[in-house]
Amino acid sequence: MKRLWLLFPIILFAREDFISHYEYGEMLYANPRGISCSHCHGESGEGKIIVKYKEDNNETKILRGSDIRGKNIDNMIKSLNSYHKVMPRYYLTNKEVKAIFDYLQDKNGVE
Ligand code: HEC
Repeated sequence: MKRLWLLFPIILFAREDFISHYEYGEMLYANPRGISCSHCHGESGEGKIIVKYKEDNNETKILRGSDIRGKNIDNMIKSLNSYHKVMPRYYLTNKEVKAIFDYLQDKNGVE
């Protein structure tokens, strides 16, 4: 029984060091060295209304972040490495984009 105490710090250390691929993707989606993806693409990439505004002629315009759940990994990497009108430019590595991609796939139950 006494010996278990010796193992305790090792278990704690090991746990702290461990972060799953899912958690890594979750973390990056929420905090990708810039504004969170979820602000514009929703909690699970389903898309979201960013803002509604009225034009001079009183017409209501809606600006929305697109649904990115159906995107493939190549599309995702390409999008994140280019400039857009609304979406900011991120400087994520392909590995980081892949983690975000896998996180969204997992979260949305895509095999
Ligand atoms: C300020 C809002 C905003 C943020 C933050 C944002 N996006 Fe976007 N994103 C958009 C909009 C709007 C589009 C549609 C293209 C455009 O006009 O920019 C888009 C397009 C995309 C596309 C391409 C979709 C297509 O139709 O091909 C992908 C993939 C994407 N975003 C992923 C992300 C990821 C991953 C993050 C976080 C690292 C992120 N976006 C952060 C607003 C945002």
